[in-house]
Amino acid sequence: MTPYIADADAWQESWDRQQEAYLPDREHRFTTMLDAVDAIRDTAPPRLLDLAGGTGTISLRALRRFPDAEVTLVDLDPALLALATASLGDRAAIVSADLGKPDWPAALPHRRYDAVLTATALHWLPADRLATLYAEIRDLLRPGGLLVNADHMPDDALPELTKRLLARAEERRTARYAAGAVPSWSQWWDQAAQDPVLRPLVEQRQVIYPSGHSPEWTPPVSWHLDALTDAGFREVGTLWRGGADAAVVAVR
Ligand SMILES: C[S@@+](CC[C@H](N)C(=O)[O-])C[C@H]1O[C@@H](n2cnc3c(N)ncnc32)[C@H](O)[C@@H]1O
Repeated sequence: MTPYIADADAWQESWDRQQEAYLPDREHRFTTMLDAVDAIRDTAPPRLLDLAGGTGTISLRALRRFPDAEVTLVDLDPALLALATASLGDRAAIVSADLGKPDWPAALPHRRYDAVLTATALHWLPADRLATLYAEIRDLLRPGGLLVNADHMPDDALPELTKRLLARAEERRTARYAAGAVPSWSQWWDQAAQDPVLRPLVEQRQVIYPSGHSPEWTPPVSWHLDALTDAGFREVGTLWRGGADAAVVAVR
């Protein structure tokens, strides 16, 4: 049974602050993603899949913009799934599944989606698995449906400038941590581990993700565009760019 989390809004807010320390333009990429959904939607309520959705950031914003949307969120982290459940309630189907394994679509409540949206997550997967996942996502989309993946995806043409941009961004982040302006990734998880309701879920998480973070494998945007083309999408391109991050889009 999902535990009762009374202060879910406060946890959502601190998750957002913690993520924005890495992604100052985080909200902009979500808006761009939802603009793409708006562009392909017809008269029926859009059916959306929030992949590796964590606390439900994309689902919550999608439901604000499209209140009639049918939303499914998939993730593997028990603590983040509990927060997503607390915030989304019965407005979304919340599914625990491992995107690292090919049987994850069997856990979904639907076989077809209008859009699959994902942010700052798929770099947790190894290259060969992500390439296969792109093909699995294509199979879940209706013709004309789309995938948007926003993640760390440097521009191939700017290798040296990218290094400098990342170094400066890290300096700014370190200064914000030092000033106590935002929680760091590890501070956020330490706080969650001190919460009596979240603690047992954080302990389960430590077994699922022993290192606690992603392997930080972040190939350039061209890798994603090639992998999406190979996965059989009809249109593939870059929807949004900000510094060393991008959102790629692929239309079935
Ligand atoms: C940095 S969080 C981003 C969450 C959310 N998309 C956001 O923008 O706030 C990365 C997410 O990927 C999820 N994730 C990583 N590997 C996964 C896997 N193999 N299966 C399902 N989810 C996974 C993590 O549990 C975590 O929720």
